[in-house]
Amino acid sequence: MIEIASRAPPPVLAIDGPGGAGKGTISRLAAERLNWHYLDSGALYRILALAGKLKGIALSDESALSDIASKLDIRFGTGSDERIWLESSEITDQIRTEQAGAAASAVAALPAVRAALLERQRAFRRMPGLVADGRDMGTVVFTDAIVKVFLTASAQERADRRYKQLIAKGIDVKLCDLLADIQTRDDRDSNRAIAPLRPAADAVLIDTSSMSIDEVLQKVLGLVDLQTS
Ligand code: DC
Repeated sequence: MIEIASRAPPPVLAIDGPGGAGKGTISRLAAERLNWHYLDSGALYRILALAGKLKGIALSDESALSDIASKLDIRFGTGSDERIWLESSEITDQIRTEQAGAAASAVAALPAVRAALLERQRAFRRMPGLVADGRDMGTVVFTDAIVKVFLTASAQERADRRYKQLIAKGIDVKLCDLLADIQTRDDRDSNRAIAPLRPAADAVLIDTSSMSIDEVLQKVLGLVDLQTS
């Protein structure tokens, strides 16, 4: 039998935007509802920064970091299991701290690191589809995504949300420090030379500042529905 050569690749829903805009929550829920795979690309940068630290590699050592990036032994939990392992250690909580986010932002600015992680991210694209969450999903990694969404929220709103999350976990933080961290990270992610944070030309912008999680989810699923039905 002759295999049809032009079989369509698995569809991708790309969700980009700054940290704290709700990408993680919306992407996970959308993946669950669609029954698609999920890629948390930010976690890859966070894990790489942690692996570098454990090996005593400086955050600026582009060649050593890109070298380990392609070899990292990472395992993600599936479905509602949000745990992540580096080699045999579970590192879920370790990579979610503010420091880990800042370290990830630094390694993510290195071109060789981004190149080394490119194929690794694309390998997540499997049937029946993929929800890809990050900064450059629609502009670089999956330029042919069937739906590209750029989620935003004001820096103040994102700092407020993060503050509530951390206080609920019993972690003592100052709102003004969180706001300053968010602004520093936005600035670095948006102004780096390679794959800066910006919406793809064909992305749908959604400002989540005054929307509920469910409203955002319905809007995103509606966009996917338009393309797949
Ligand atoms: O989404 P996050 O907070 O887990 O991402 C951590 C850092 O990784 C963020 O500051 C920027 C970087 N990142 C990136 O450059 N490209 C991606 N696709 C995802 C994250």
